[in-house]
Amino acid sequence: KNIRWDTVQAEKNGYKYFMLKEIFEQPRTIEDTFRGRIYSDEGRIYIEEVKLKEEYIKNMSNIYIVACGTSYHSGLVSKFLFESFAKIPAEVDIASEFRYRDVILDEKTLVVAISQSGETADTLAALRLAKSKGCQTLAVCNVVGSSISREAMHVIYTHCGPEIGVASTKAFTGQVTALYILALDWACKRKTLTIRELKKYLKELWEIPLKINKFLKNSQSVYDIAKVFANKRGFLYLGRHINYPVALEGALKIKEISYIHAEGYAAGEMKHGPIALIDKSMPIVAIVVKGKIYEKIISNIEEVKARGGTIIAVADQSDKEIGNKSDYVIYIPETDEFVSPLMTVIPLQLLAYYISVILGCDVDQPRNLAKSVTVE
Ligand code: AGP
Repeated sequence: KNIRWDTVQAEKNGYKYFMLKEIFEQPRTIEDTFRGRIYSDEGRIYIEEVKLKEEYIKNMSNIYIVACGTSYHSGLVSKFLFESFAKIPAEVDIASEFRYRDVILDEKTLVVAISQSGETADTLAALRLAKSKGCQTLAVCNVVGSSISREAMHVIYTHCGPEIGVASTKAFTGQVTALYILALDWACKRKTLTIRELKKYLKELWEIPLKINKFLKNSQSVYDIAKVFANKRGFLYLGRHINYPVALEGALKIKEISYIHAEGYAAGEMKHGPIALIDKSMPIVAIVVKGKIYEKIISNIEEVKARGGTIIAVADQSDKEIGNKSDYVIYIPETDEFVSPLMTVIPLQLLAYYISVILGCDVDQPRNLAKSVTVE
């Protein structure tokens, strides 16, 4: 029987839900997305399919990233990469907001549309608006030949294979991988990173699949925590800097598939209001990995604990302090902070998945949701 390739790809391969299979596929899909594009020893990057001229990359005034949902979150991560690596001002906008603002665009603005399906109506409309204003446009897509990938002037594909679960997982890490490579490529061309730095960041990306695999092989602690908190009414997810978007993504995952209210928040913002929410009944998931804001987020979780909050920390396995500052810790392999979202998101995807299964929800087809929102 001639089964279509993507049908075979879409087999659950023994996993209970496509979402779990897709979470566990991420070491391979990240590798498939960077394979052939990065050579860390030589410090070389090849993105043949993106035909932006070197002159344009050097003179680009700013980047506007437009997307929805999880793709918006990967766009928020990429803002840090374009700014810190390539020194290009980058704004990120929800597509359904972008298209109704008097947004200032010109031919030196690059508009990046991120979409797993390549069919999201708001993102497609935002892309068309950008083209009408004479901007260069680049799509980050997972579906070859989709509307957004066809209509953008340039496209970089994530090689994740079909993503069946409505809650996006491997597409997020595929998008962050593609955007990380783009930001490094442009940093190289704009000479805003030394070769040594470039090789370092490429090596960090190269090592991620192994680290994710290592974590996935002993992620039992996530299931144990899910059992404790599955019946909670609401969660707060705290992150800072490049992990603030991951806090947003973790909150979206648990909302989507277990219907529990959750909010992702910039940890430094807690004292400006949300800290009033803290009580014993609300678990706080905090991403506390090493980096330039580590001390800051530690003081944020101390503020929360002092008010009786329950802390579930996602922290580096080398962190010896975090244990006595949190109620629960999910330890992950250490990474450089700029590549850490590819690692920190994994326990949050699993936490949402396990809670959804414990609650008996339909993980792959959550109520009211469609895989691709092709209507406004
Ligand atoms: C994410 O888990 C959701 N399924 C949803 O927010 C999704 O990310 C959004 O609809 C964007 O879809 P796209 O990437 O296909 O454009």
